[in-house]
Amino acid sequence: MTEENLVTITTYETAREAYLSRDLKQALYDAGEVVMSDVLVNLHGEEHRSRRRLENRLYRREVFYKYENELFPEIIEETLAPHLGARKAELVSLSHQLMMNLAALTAGVDRLSGTPEETFRLYDYLMTFIEGATLAHYQGDRKTKEQEIKDALAAFDEEFLGPGIVRRSTLIGELEKGNIEETDLPQDVLTVLLRNVDHLDLTHEVILREIAFYLLAGTHTSATAFTRTMHNIFEWLDEDVDHKEKICHPDFIRRCVHETIRLQPSSPVSQRSAEAEIQLASGLTINKGDKVVIDLIQVNRDASVFGEDADKFNPERKLPLSVQEHGLSFGLGMHACIGKDLAAGILDGDNEKPENHLNGLITMAVQNMLANGCRPDPNTPPTMNPSTSRPYFGEYPVIFDSSYRV
Ligand code: HEM
Repeated sequence: MTEENLVTITTYETAREAYLSRDLKQALYDAGEVVMSDVLVNLHGEEHRSRRRLENRLYRREVFYKYENELFPEIIEETLAPHLGARKAELVSLSHQLMMNLAALTAGVDRLSGTPEETFRLYDYLMTFIEGATLAHYQGDRKTKEQEIKDALAAFDEEFLGPGIVRRSTLIGELEKGNIEETDLPQDVLTVLLRNVDHLDLTHEVILREIAFYLLAGTHTSATAFTRTMHNIFEWLDEDVDHKEKICHPDFIRRCVHETIRLQPSSPVSQRSAEAEIQLASGLTINKGDKVVIDLIQVNRDASVFGEDADKFNPERKLPLSVQEHGLSFGLGMHACIGKDLAAGILDGDNEKPENHLNGLITMAVQNMLANGCRPDPNTPPTMNPSTSRPYFGEYPVIFDSSYRV
């Protein structure tokens, strides 16, 4: 790639315009084809629109409300229980396990035996898929890694996806015969896809990658945001004794989650390629064939929008109504994150409807940890992950101490 055809966007308004341009096509996952080929985030135009329209049916507030109130509390409790029993945990692996269990439910990956071994195997597959999607940043031998990822996809297919398809196809058949009701079907992405295989012309391979993608899209981003929120809250609590009182309320924790996601976006860049010449109102010209990088770390710290202290963690930041607290970390336009409200919650002006107030699963998990007295392990400080060029925590040891409960 030459200097001339790489355009980097670092300001908020220009980034908004770029996200909304239909002539800019997804280009972030070109090196991650092994997992990402033909998955929703890589589609464009009509193909994207028809798949997104279908999957949107599942990602509605009423469904999120049901997940948040009926299904997630049990999974959070079950995942945290062994760590609470041991009075210590490691946040990076715990958050991936937790978010994976939640993402598996929404993607349609059944954990039929429910044993810890089964969960660990799924976790291993997931970590391999994450390496597949982020292959561009992999520091080792990429060819070997790519083969490892193909093998993991095949094993995941045999152990999890295949039996899940059989189970759902049987239920769909029963529904067609009138033996069961619509509400007896699982509410997950796999069921939606299976009911529309013909209409969308989906091969088994595409379904395999779409489900693997949903599993990783829902897990890695939320797990990263969770660990970073915990870290930012720990530091913020240490700044001032009065902060402890504020942190008790879930609405305030939700603000901490959004502020963390603004400051440290889980996907720090979006990348597009230009299908035509584009003239943006903010003055930027993009030529056909140019690669466009939206640098979310800089965009979300644009002082003209977020204030002079934009590069500081400040959950009490006041913003105009037109600007979202999490900045552009969930993207915008056609590829805007489908799981945003599920992950990070919403507080809508219209509070009459209960589904307009969602805490989001990251807030729920953070609240649970703080209520159990979670604090950094004073004897083992956190470390960064050396295998990637991105700033992820490698290990974050914590303890549970009742004197720190909030
Ligand atoms: C903190 C949590 C999360 C963050 C920061 C995040 C971030 C993003 C971003 C930036 C995009 C847009 C990518 C682009 O424009 O190139 C995106 C798309 C997407 N996200 Fe998320 N995400 C999160 C959680 C989730 C969850 C929980 C799910 C699913 C359950 C999910 C599913 C998706 C999907 C399917 C897309 C593709 C949408 C499309 O192309 O139409 N994400 N996400």
